[in-house]
Amino acid sequence: MNKTIIVSNRLPLQIAIEEDKLNVTPSVGGLATGMKSVHADGNGVWVGWSGITDEDLDEDLKPKVNEKIENAKCKAVGLTEADVEDFYLGFSNRTLWPLFHYFLEYTKFETEQWDAYKRVNEKFAEVVLDTIEEGDTVWVHDYQLLLLPQLIKDKRPDVTIGFFLHIPFPSYEIFRTFPWRQELLTGMLGADLIGFHTYDYERHFLSSVKRILRLDVNFNEITYHDRIVKVDSFPMGIDYGKFSNAALVHDNPDTKKSELQKRLDTHLNEGDDQKFILSIDRLDYTKGIPNRLRAFEHFLNTYPQYKEKVRLVMLAVPSRSNVPQYQKLKRETDELVGRINGEFSTVSWTPIWYFYRSLPFENLIDLYTSSDIALITPVRDGMNLVAKEYVATRTKQDGVLILSEMAGAAKEMNEAILINPNSLEDFATALDKALTMPLEEQQSRMKILQKRLKRYDVEKWAEEFFKTLEATNQIQEVAVSK
Ligand code: ADP
Ligand code: G6P
Repeated sequence: MNKTIIVSNRLPLQIAIEEDKLNVTPSVGGLATGMKSVHADGNGVWVGWSGITDEDLDEDLKPKVNEKIENAKCKAVGLTEADVEDFYLGFSNRTLWPLFHYFLEYTKFETEQWDAYKRVNEKFAEVVLDTIEEGDTVWVHDYQLLLLPQLIKDKRPDVTIGFFLHIPFPSYEIFRTFPWRQELLTGMLGADLIGFHTYDYERHFLSSVKRILRLDVNFNEITYHDRIVKVDSFPMGIDYGKFSNAALVHDNPDTKKSELQKRLDTHLNEGDDQKFILSIDRLDYTKGIPNRLRAFEHFLNTYPQYKEKVRLVMLAVPSRSNVPQYQKLKRETDELVGRINGEFSTVSWTPIWYFYRSLPFENLIDLYTSSDIALITPVRDGMNLVAKEYVATRTKQDGVLILSEMAGAAKEMNEAILINPNSLEDFATALDKALTMPLEEQQSRMKILQKRLKRYDVEKWAEEFFKTLEATNQIQEVAVSK
């Protein structure tokens, strides 16, 4: 039977060795959580890195690690410490990530790291080529593997390849600053179909292809050598059923409450008008966490009537903590939380509850379902699935989503309160509006959002991508036979 080979830098499970024991955790981030549902349902294999370096994997542990990986229908690509340093922490997260999110001032261009990027993309190609059987389809994901489609196509022109970028594709003016721009674009063009979250990212990509490679672009089709490469947008959805069902189970009075839920309840019951404002992100500078904290402070100063009536519950999940910019952000966040809590706290009220950790799924549901408002305000974000997950868990259709215009998700979520994350005024007015919004209005907005997200869930997203990939293949066959 033909299979689909999913390829991404990280596997959906992360393995670490702690005190000689294996610790297996689910990967965080939109790519892993979204694709996990697609992978679980399908017939296929997921190729990626397990989280352990070759140096840490001794002969005793190898069979145990392999067993975990195989049981999860995965196949590992081995990375050395040097690969992790130069390819992952280096080129992927100190060059491509900041550049594609418009953080030019954080972007480093280092030839040695570019060489590591090429080397590791080749390592991935080797494992994928080894896995491919006739008739298989390969679906490559994200910015860590932009060269991979062409590396596979060179060796296996018969294989259908899809590529999806989970982060923004920047405008031509930003992309043209990148020293290896031709190589990166031609790497991507090895795919038969290239997908983005939004039409804007698609447009930026096509403009770079036209202006840098000077290729013929006809609407959304690129003629490249003797092939046609199709480009399209597919806004990624969530596993709607998983989140809404989990919220229903959570609401059931027979369900045992978690310790976190008990703690949330104690505070929710302090006063009838105590409101929770939730924010959840990986601790990443693209997520606009310091802006959000300053804006919350501004809000408390501008609308002092909300003091002791609202609480910001902020979950920041540790991420890429070996990259200096992330360490700086951690310090800045800690300082801001400390300063704001110091400034406003009273004997019975702390304005910000800050968790810096990864919480299990059940606790995410506790947070989503206990919050009156979700404040999701990245300064730049490819999609943002947290915003969608919040909506899916609102079983009573109450609650308000405040969402940044700079998140890809904003394109499909007009019924949220959309704000510019750089405007303190926007934040304060949006919070006041959300806190005073009549229940009927909350419900009518939520109803529309839920209907849309339920219809276009992650399964539908993958289905649409595959349908388009299949159709692209047919155009290819016609083009070749002419
Ligand atoms: P990004 O991909 O940039 O991290 P998204 O908002 O698109 O941002 O995706 C974040 C994903 O990570 C969501 O699906 C969310 O449920 C998940 N997530 C957030 N916090 C945790 C956590 N503590 N443990 C596991 N998954 C988490
Ligand atoms: C985003 C990226 C993913 C990445 C995830 C977590 O969602 O699009 O490719 O896996 O963040 O980041 P990490 O560096 O821990 O893999």
